[in-house]
Amino acid sequence: MNYNELIKEAFEARKFSYAPYSRFHVGAALLTADGKVYRGCNIESASHTPSCCAERTAFFKAISSGEKDFKAIAIVAAAADTPLDEFEYCAPCGVCRQVMVEFCHLDNFEVILAKSEEDYKIYSLNELLPLSFTGKELL
Ligand code: THU
Repeated sequence: MNYNELIKEAFEARKFSYAPYSRFHVGAALLTADGKVYRGCNIESASHTPSCCAERTAFFKAISSGEKDFKAIAIVAAAADTPLDEFEYCAPCGVCRQVMVEFCHLDNFEVILAKSEEDYKIYSLNELLPLSFTGKELL
């Protein structure tokens, strides 16, 4: 699976976004080392705190299915009804970055922020969350 296809998966995931409060619809597609894709969308709650970002939805689906090795995640986001040619890059929130650090390689895992299937930027976790708390200190 190439990154254009992975981004397409993220756009498909975004269609299921449940975001009646923010109206900000996010889709993510998480690629495993052996080529499987787990889609996620953001899921909001009237009491806000239980809401979950698209990225964590994808990660928790994958982890709870037994996946351990991850290669990349593609993220697409925009307010509801945004025309496809007006998408901006959307960086993951701090909580999602911390979840990524838990399960992914700091240099090799690729976080793809996409405006379209062809227009995207790639970051490592080290770039997105420098000096991160990895939990090594706890072991
Ligand atoms: N959101 C995501 O799903 N991922 C991000 O990277 C940023 C924010 C969601 C959470 C909430 O449902 C809405 O976008 C507005 O913050």
